[in-house]
Amino acid sequence: MAAILPPETANLHKAVEILKNGGLVALPTETVYGLAANALDEAACRRIFEVKGRPFIDPLISHVLGLEQARSLAETTPEAEELMAAFWPGALTLVLPKKDVVPDIVTAGRSSVALRSPNHPVIRDVLQLAAIPLAAPSANPFGQLSPTRAEHVQNALGDRIPMIIDGGPCQFGIESTIVDMRNPDAPVLLRPGAISREELGQVLNAPLRLPQPRPHAGGSTDAATGAGSQLAPGMLERHYSPRTPLSLFECGTRPPTASGTGTVVLFQRPDQPVTVPAGTETLWLSEDGDTRSAASALFALLHELDSRGLDWIAVEKAPRTGLGPAINDRLVRASAK
Ligand code: TXA
Ligand code: MG
Repeated sequence: MAAILPPETANLHKAVEILKNGGLVALPTETVYGLAANALDEAACRRIFEVKGRPFIDPLISHVLGLEQARSLAETTPEAEELMAAFWPGALTLVLPKKDVVPDIVTAGRSSVALRSPNHPVIRDVLQLAAIPLAAPSANPFGQLSPTRAEHVQNALGDRIPMIIDGGPCQFGIESTIVDMRNPDAPVLLRPGAISREELGQVLNAPLRLPQPRPHAGGSTDAATGAGSQLAPGMLERHYSPRTPLSLFECGTRPPTASGTGTVVLFQRPDQPVTVPAGTETLWLSEDGDTRSAASALFALLHELDSRGLDWIAVEKAPRTGLGPAINDRLVRASAK
């Protein structure tokens, strides 16, 4: 079982040694915990897929210290660099044309690479000490709930990795926002996340589009253009899933009637105008309805509820502002059958 180690210098050096030797280490970021490997080491990155049980069609995000390392991995543009200047280090991932140094396994054979400069001091220290970019998906088995605490990683992957560095609970608790910037005039929001559309809109000079639906179901991924990115599991219909059945109800409406005895209703905020059947336990994601605090509590609460062996969890959808759309994106996928 992987030990959870405090982020002391000696432990960070141990992590760097493992990474440089082609091993994997779970590291905290400000969004969720990541399962890191040397992004330039094809065999190490292959191991990420094996440990997570992740299909090879799902490309990895490469984490960099900043602009200089980003330029070594991708063709940037002034528009992309404007976003980096505004949001890095931080929870924004940019998809750009890749350079040859990036192994195909990282990008699932695409000609584009996803880059993010994280803001958490622990992964930044490791990036600095190792002086290599780190490929890191969320440190959870494929399709399951994302980890926002070191214990989540230990419970789910502890028997498959050598080390977890503890950075405390993740500040955002929800993954980065992913924007495809290959065409600077038509940026595409590939995944809503910890940076809101409103925040992006203040910096982007072009309207942010949503991915076009695939013309026909089952279409293949176009390796040259990256079209068909809907196939990437962050965008799969069912993802982020607890074992307990989860259903959703619209913000501000009555929750559906419970079908089993062990039911919990999870509201966005405590002051509910609606009533629930007697005996139903109610909880809430945020004390004041702020979507940031709701996002940071979301996965930790779902992990906790999932460990209780309940029959059913009903969750109220978040409002459509701030991080609400990112929360709802995760909830819709978590509730998919
Ligand atoms: O906050 C985060 O982004 C976390 C932390 C650890 O940084 N990482 C994360 O990684 O959420 P992961 O593997 O769970 O999600 C990566 C997603 C893929 O599923 C895919 O949707 C998208 O990033 N992606 C990666 N490379 C891409 C590319 N070249 N084109 C389009 N989408 C890409
Ligand atoms: Mg993930």
